[in-house]
Amino acid sequence: MLMRSSLLPIISLLTTEWALAQFTTPAAVPTGVAVQGDYTGPLRPRVHFSPPAGFMNDPNGLFKDNNGTWHLYYQYNPTDIVAGNQHWGHATSPNLYEWTNQPIALFPPNSTTGVFSGSAVIDANNTSGFFQNTTEGVVAIYTLNTPQKQVQEIAYSYDGGYTFTPYSGNPVLDVGSNQFRDPKVVWYNDHWVMVIAYAAEYVIGIYTSPDLKDWTHASNVSHIGFLGIQYECPNLVKLPVKNSTSNDDQDGWVLTISINPGAPLGGSITQYYPGQFNGTHFEPYDRATRLSNFAKDDYAGQFFYDEPVSIGWASNWEYTNIVPTGSEGWRSSMTLPRTNYLVDSGVRGYHLVQEIYDVSPILSKKLSSSDNNLVNTTISNMNFDNGIYFDMNITLPSDVTFSADASINFTISTQTSRECVKGGYILASSTPYTIWLDRGQTDGFDNPFYTDKFSESQLKPAKRIQGMMDRSVFEVYIDNGAVVGTMDVYPTEPFTTLSVGSRSLPKGSEITFSAWELKDVWA
Ligand SMILES: *[C@@H]1O[C@H](CO)[C@@H](O)[C@H](O)[C@H]1NC(C)=O
Ligand SMILES: *[C@@H]1O[C@H](CO)[C@@H](O)[C@H](O)[C@H]1NC(C)=O
Ligand SMILES: *[C@@H]1O[C@H](CO)[C@@H](O)[C@H](O)[C@H]1NC(C)=O
Ligand SMILES: *[C@@H]1O[C@H](CO)[C@@H](O)[C@H](O)[C@H]1NC(C)=O
Ligand SMILES: *[C@@H]1O[C@H](CO)[C@@H](O)[C@H](O)[C@H]1NC(C)=O
Ligand SMILES: *[C@@H]1O[C@H](CO)[C@@H](O)[C@H](O)[C@H]1NC(C)=O
Ligand SMILES: *[C@@H]1O[C@H](CO)[C@@H](O)[C@H](O)[C@H]1NC(C)=O
Ligand SMILES: *[C@@H]1O[C@H](CO)[C@@H](O)[C@H](O)[C@H]1NC(C)=O
Ligand SMILES: *[C@@H]1O[C@H](CO)[C@@H](O)[C@H](O)[C@H]1NC(C)=O
Ligand SMILES: *[C@@H]1O[C@H](CO)[C@@H](O)[C@H](O)[C@H]1NC(C)=O
Ligand SMILES: *[C@@H]1O[C@H](CO)[C@@H](O)[C@H](O)[C@H]1NC(C)=O
Repeated sequence: MLMRSSLLPIISLLTTEWALAQFTTPAAVPTGVAVQGDYTGPLRPRVHFSPPAGFMNDPNGLFKDNNGTWHLYYQYNPTDIVAGNQHWGHATSPNLYEWTNQPIALFPPNSTTGVFSGSAVIDANNTSGFFQNTTEGVVAIYTLNTPQKQVQEIAYSYDGGYTFTPYSGNPVLDVGSNQFRDPKVVWYNDHWVMVIAYAAEYVIGIYTSPDLKDWTHASNVSHIGFLGIQYECPNLVKLPVKNSTSNDDQDGWVLTISINPGAPLGGSITQYYPGQFNGTHFEPYDRATRLSNFAKDDYAGQFFYDEPVSIGWASNWEYTNIVPTGSEGWRSSMTLPRTNYLVDSGVRGYHLVQEIYDVSPILSKKLSSSDNNLVNTTISNMNFDNGIYFDMNITLPSDVTFSADASINFTISTQTSRECVKGGYILASSTPYTIWLDRGQTDGFDNPFYTDKFSESQLKPAKRIQGMMDRSVFEVYIDNGAVVGTMDVYPTEPFTTLSVGSRSLPKGSEITFSAWELKDVWA
């Protein structure tokens, strides 16, 4: 493919393209039955979705059906634990945490092709003409990757998204390019809108269609933000705007663009642009590039059709094909589900807030040493088996000067191997208010790209810190998701203990703290 013959052979070794090109279909791919999975491995996340077996990457086709069931499709190699042989895996859930694996939903027509990323819509008005008898018809829009080029296809489902039939008139969009992929489709007033990446040209194309079959080019958004080596997986969605300082009642739209490789921290990352969209043209509100995550393992996020809810892929192309979960027969998990909105934060412009979706279904035992005021004290040795979720609300007196070591810390440790993941929040006046994470003291994986420390600063001190350790994924959410950090972690034995503490907080400070053991949703 283009990337492999480009002038950047070494960097291109890191791309999706390269990874996908290396593998061809050997083993049989199961049809009609869900792939069986063994979810008992010590690195298996308990509540972050991971595939039953094999390799998973981007979330695809996310939608919620009229019965309230959430459908997650994903880039899936059912025959190996590295990327390649791309299908659409499928899982369903009543609450975005407890997933049932379903049979593979989309298959490539033959072994030289792959079903790459895309989206799904509910064609309630039968605009496509596929649906004789239902207002719940599902249409998937995806890239078919062939040795020659990348074309866009559609497939329809008569059974609510469990099985699909490719449209006989495919492809529906073919510009003759071998770097043209990842269509995301939404409905705008009276027409469908697709955003799609001209990956190697740093262009997001916007197309419109009355019926999902005939697509007309409407506009381009090009060369914004970090270029990386390629653009991928764009999304353009309408989101609620909270606390808007402007009163002109405009829609809050956000364009996300995933880049790989070439993220500021290396490898893959997602950047976003809040802006205006009028049905054909997108205009960012300002010239800033914002990142959706301050760590390295959150890529290719996709929004559910017509819902402000999203899920990302919790990995990084720099090392995803070699991480140690391969010894358990699977690789990669998704991020937590998130409810998103935009906030107008004044001089800093619009900001994407990514709240953790309601966690109540996945909390089990509330740990005994909870509800304490954490100020100037440490709570040690909260023990757990599956994983842990913790939450703290921080009240600080206004207009105080923090002392040099004012801080909040958390450490999550293993039982005997003395490995740990650390993090904390620095309040000291000499430093910006900063969240930091450190995965360096784990021994299960080492790689030059698997960098270990991440941080992000804020203008004002955090009011809330939520964290979740789920076996091999750790996530932290500051201020209800105003700042998010997602990092994979690979200990040689399971984490079992959380300690949290704070020191040198000013008089009048309060921290309410609670922690819960996670359920094992696969048990
Ligand atoms: C595989 O399918 C693609 C897309 O339908 C087609 O262009 C190609 O000729 C097929 N290849 C083989 C070897 O059948
Ligand atoms: C369906 O039709 C209604 C009535 O014309 C319209 O308001 C709505 O936007 C349409 N939605 C879709 C997804 O076609
Ligand atoms: C959907 O469209 C097709 C093609 O136009 C038509 O045959 C069918 O009757 C329509 N179904 C409904 C429920 O309108
Ligand atoms: C709906 O229509 C499709 C296409 O005509 C048909 O295959 C399917 O069986 C029908 N479903 C029901 C429930 O009638
Ligand atoms: C919703 O549930 C009903 C009853 O279980 C079922 O018949 C129907 O097919 C479901 N619809 C979808 C879109 O899954
Ligand atoms: C949009 O971008 C594509 C890819 O670079 C290019 O081929 C096309 O000419 C552009 N269209 C317009 C109208 O600028
Ligand atoms: C909006 O701002 C007010 C005042 O600062 C605050 O109390 C409220 O929580 C904010 N609401 C949201 C949704 O951010
Ligand atoms: C959308 O914006 C573009 C660029 O400003 C403009 O040319 C076009 O007329 C607008 N369309 C509508 C429907 O307002
Ligand atoms: C948190 O860790 C930092 C960095 O190691 C350290 O400077 C600080 O004193 C620690 N704070 C607490 C409360 O342990
Ligand atoms: C916390 O400790 C610092 C110094 O170690 C002290 O000045 C401060 O008053 C203490 N905070 C509270 C709320 O007791
Ligand atoms: C933190 O505050 C939120 C509401 O803003 C509440 O839902 C949550 O239970 C609180 N957590 C703790 C540990 O107090």
